[in-house]
Parts: sequence; C-alpha cells; structure tokens
Amino acid sequence: MSTSLHPRRVYIETYGCQMNVADSEVVAGILSAGGFELTGRIAEADVILVNTCAIRETAEERIVGRLGLFSTFKRGNPGTLVGVLGCMAERLRRDLLEEDWVDLVVGPDEYRKLPALIAGAFEGEKGIAVRLSRVENYDDITPLRTDGVSAWLSVMRGCDKFCTFCVVPFTRGRERSRPLESVVREVATLAGRGYREVTLLGQNVNSYSDGSRDFADLMRAVAAVDRTMRIRFTTSHPQDMSDRLIEAIAVEPNICKYIHLPVQSGSDRILALMNRSYTARHYRALIARIRRAIPGAAISTDVISGFPSETEAEHRMTVDLLREIRFDGAFTFKYSPRANTKAFELPDDVPEREKGRRVQEITELQHAIALEQNRTFVGTVVRVLVDGPSRKSAADFTGRTATNRTVVFPRTSEEPGDDADIRIERASSATLIGVNAGTAPTLAESAA
Ligand code: 5AD
Ligand code: SF4
Repeated sequence: MSTSLHPRRVYIETYGCQMNVADSEVVAGILSAGGFELTGRIAEADVILVNTCAIRETAEERIVGRLGLFSTFKRGNPGTLVGVLGCMAERLRRDLLEEDWVDLVVGPDEYRKLPALIAGAFEGEKGIAVRLSRVENYDDITPLRTDGVSAWLSVMRGCDKFCTFCVVPFTRGRERSRPLESVVREVATLAGRGYREVTLLGQNVNSYSDGSRDFADLMRAVAAVDRTMRIRFTTSHPQDMSDRLIEAIAVEPNICKYIHLPVQSGSDRILALMNRSYTARHYRALIARIRRAIPGAAISTDVISGFPSETEAEHRMTVDLLREIRFDGAFTFKYSPRANTKAFELPDDVPEREKGRRVQEITELQHAIALEQNRTFVGTVVRVLVDGPSRKSAADFTGRTATNRTVVFPRTSEEPGDDADIRIERASSATLIGVNAGTAPTLAESAA
C-alpha cells in the first residue's frame, strides 16, 4: 500500500464562509509540508477532503448531496479516502463515521493531525478528531494560497457571542486571537510576494484581542506594512464596532471603506430573543457614526427572516430599517433551526412559505436600493484592483472598488493585480459596467 510511485494526492473542496476558504489553505499547507501533493482533479486524488459548513440546514443538504457523489466515486475507487472536515464534522462527529464510505472526520481545531490520520486511514483505520481548542490558531502554519492577488488571513477564531440562532460557537469553539506581531509579519511576507490585498478574517473579527492590542490597533499596524496594499476585514459584530475602530478605518488610507455589519432584525423584541446585545436604535446610531466619520463608506448586512415568533409587524420593522439605512448590500436568510442552540428550544412557528415571502420582500427591496446606489456611479471614473477574467466572458475582466463594488470591463492590457481606472457606463444591482478610462474610448467616443 505504501509502494505508490507518486506522493499521495489530495483534492480539497470547500463550502461555507471565507474562514473555511482560509482553513482549506491551512489544511493544504499542513499536508504539503507533510509530503502530500495537492490536486484540483478528483479523478487523480488518493484523498478527497470536503471542508463543510453547518450554518443552515440548506447548506448541509447541499453538502450531503455532494458527499453522495463522492460515496459513488469511492465505490468505483475503493482505495481513495474520503474525509469530512469543518463545521459539519464538528457538529455530526461519530454519526458521519458510521457511513461506510467516510474514512476521516476532522473538526476545525484538529487539522494538524491530518497527516497522521490519513496515514492511519490508508492502513484501514478510520480517523476522528473533533476536539475544540482554546488556543489553536495555526499561527505557525504557512497556508498554501492559490490566488496571487488577494489573500485571506485569519486573525482570530471562534465566537463567544452565543447568538441564540447560531451554531458557530458549537462548531468553532471559543474566541482566540493571533499575536499582532505575527499577523504583521505574515502581511509583510504577502506584500513581498506581490499580493495587493489582504482580508483579515474572524467569525467576530472586531472582537480581536491579543491581550494588550485590540482590532483597531491591529488594523493600524497592518495598514502601515505596505501602503499600496488594500486592507479589508470581515465579519464584524455591531457590539465591537468601537469609535477607535471607526476612526482607524476613516484615517488609514489603504483600509477599504467597506464594512459588513449584520443587523439580523429591525425589531428589538426579536433582537433580544436573538441575544444580539443591541437595539435597532443603537444600530441606527452606529450607522450614523460610521457615515459621519467615513463619508462614502459602503455598508452591507445580514438579515434573518422568520425567527421564532416573528410577527408581520416585526418583519415590517426590518423592512423599514433597510429602507431607511439603504445598505449597499444585504444577505437575507430564512431562519433555520440548529440543534444545540438556544433558539432550537423555541417553536419554529413561522411557516416556511411565510419565511420565503418575507425573504423575497426584503430581497426585492434591497435589489431596488442597490440598483439606485449603483446608478449614481454611471458617468464617473472608479479605481479598481483587477481580479482577472470575468466568469461570463474571457474577453472581459473584473475588478473591485475600495468599497467592494464589482466592476466588469473589456480587457485591454490589464493584468490581475493591476490598478485600473474604469469609466462606468451602465449599472445593474450587482455590477458596474464600463471601460478603462486610460486606454479605451468611451461608448460615446467610439460611436462618434
Ligand atoms: N438560520 C438562518 N440564518 C442564520 N445565520 C446564522 N445562523 C442562522 C440560522 N440558524 C445567518 C446570519 C449570519 C450569517 C452568516 O448567517 O445572518 O450573519
Ligand atoms: Fe459555515 Fe459558520 Fe462554519 Fe463558516 S463558521 S463554515 S459560516 S458554520
């Protein structure tokens, strides 16, 4: 069995949040240091790892469907190992191992054990490691990153907020942060390798604390490493959005003026049931402070529709809040009961159809608002960091503005990682469309 001629090849598939994307890069780093080779092709994999998400039932169902395909694959290739990583591994634990086609179940804090567990599994011993840690932050692991322009960097892990709907404190454990100096060192290395953007990640990134420095300190230190590098961060909790942090975002020129700040509901009764620790009034005041300090800041949010006992009147409060604040983006989800959470004990009493109707109403409203916001850019020139070819056409490239708007334009001579000034000619609710203001004629000029 150990006589294979090539190093064992590992294929990794990732679901869920950016934290999971970053974790998969940590896993790839651990495995390549352990003598494994990474592959993007399932057909040549000796090990298939699926990094999973457990945030909502629908997320899990999608992954279960995909795992079904891997079980079929394994029937034809019995020598291939299948491992489940991430939040579903942590949530379902031994239940997953009972499937005869699952060889490994490894939770988010146990990835260092993967090389040994995989070796054991090749000897026929199924492996499980799902202990959560108070200290593991993979500080010394060099993630194996694939993109060369934009890097994810997790600076803290876990969550202590215990929102009553959320499974994350159970799948990711307690909060812990990496030391500021080590984050700064990694950012300097990324800058040296030509990365143009880094996104600091954490389930609750703005509650970062390494004992003596908070998230505002970290952002300032990271921003000073290389002023040509864009600094982003996600996801923030309103409770930890301090004035010092707002000021750091306002003052540091290369910190992107974009904040994702989940509100979840516009009703104080629902917010209290969710254990969100703020009222709608606090949240509105916070947005006002951000907009005063950072003119032109883009703000996006998350909303949950149909939380237990949410009435039509309470849903309307959320709609009113969105109409009033006019977010640049909003992600709206149907409430999904998760075992172990506090809200799981409440009756899931908003009917599925009604949840769907509420989500749709909010989505349509937000769509109209985003379209109006985006149309204000038509005729202006925006600076973008070029990402690469657009998904729809290889002739087009995409880039993002500092406020995280996606811009599509016909490629002239741009390369991924370049800055480009794009004159905006059209807008949809999700995208700005234009031409390179430096090199290309405008539609008006080319028509003349
Ligand atoms: N049901 C629906 N949405 C949820 N979210 C978190 N937990 C649940 C749940 N049980 C949403 C929240 C959070 C986002 C990442 O996912 O809006 O901000
Ligand atoms: Fe999904 Fe939350 Fe786990 Fe991210 S932390 S993978 S969103 S359950």
